[in-house]
Amino acid sequence: MFRPRRMRISPAIRNLVRETILTPQDFIYPVFIVAGENVEEEISSMPNCYHLSVDRAVEWARKISAAGIPAVEIFGLPEYKDEIGSSAWDMNSPVQRAISAIKKSVPELAIIGDVCLCQYTTHGHCGKLDGNYVDNDATLELLQKVAVSQSEAGADIIAPSDMMDGRILAIRSALDSNGFKNVAIMSYSAKYASGYYAPFRDAADSAPQFGDRKQYQMDCANVIEALKEVDLDVDEGADIIMIKPALAYLDVVAKVKERIDLPLAVYNVSGEYAMVKSAARNGWIDEKRIVLENLTSMKRAGANMIITYHALDAARWLNES
Ligand code: PBG
Ligand code: ZN
Repeated sequence: MFRPRRMRISPAIRNLVRETILTPQDFIYPVFIVAGENVEEEISSMPNCYHLSVDRAVEWARKISAAGIPAVEIFGLPEYKDEIGSSAWDMNSPVQRAISAIKKSVPELAIIGDVCLCQYTTHGHCGKLDGNYVDNDATLELLQKVAVSQSEAGADIIAPSDMMDGRILAIRSALDSNGFKNVAIMSYSAKYASGYYAPFRDAADSAPQFGDRKQYQMDCANVIEALKEVDLDVDEGADIIMIKPALAYLDVVAKVKERIDLPLAVYNVSGEYAMVKSAARNGWIDEKRIVLENLTSMKRAGANMIITYHALDAARWLNES
């Protein structure tokens, strides 16, 4: 009789047959940059995540890199908002300044710039409005400016999260024609219209002021459509494909993994993080076990990299084990 339990008999044997190994090198740590100096303020909807000024973000970048985490993704809270989100491509904005400062002080860390307009527009939508409609093609021109400005600041990877059609091609051509042929694109290819983004929208002050994002982000009921989005982004020149959120969408991750030969990322989003943190704080779950189990399941489903607010804690747990 074949007995699968033979291979579970001891920690050594279990280590030998383990199929999925999680390491700090799988992680991307998201950081939120604000104006000012010496700011390190905990985000109320996201325990143990902080709003950081540029100087503090550099210190964090050192800590992140020392933990073995290879990359950060930069989000920003601008000093001003307008109808078209022009602070998103202002070279003096917190994001652009943080990118240059981190590049200069911690050159070994890869810097990913989140490209979207919702934090920067007064209406909180991810593009330029035409009445109540987000105008796709007019938005592409603005996203090009954001991508070029972040590349100028020193970003290694541009990550558009807006879900406009044709944005990968538009950004690729803007990067190429501005001398940034080696700046890569990580596409939020299948980004679902999800309730799991709520804590982030508080943290980034980016909630839409009317309506929702369902005319551009995907319906959570669809997977064939996600494959189409992925195919389009591959054709348009994306270097990394991302699925977001992670946990409730691991079926999508597994399907996309079978289909593409590009690196695949997942975004373990703010709501997933907040649920774990709050249950752990109540003593209902063991935080370390649950976090490592969740992250392992994302990798098992096919993710090569995981954007996660748990990155620093998980790296510490992995490094000490
Ligand atoms: C902005 C953006 C969002 C997230 C990343 N970029 C929110 C949204 O689309 O409303 C969510 C990240 C998270 O919840 O952790 N386009
Ligand atoms: Zn957005």
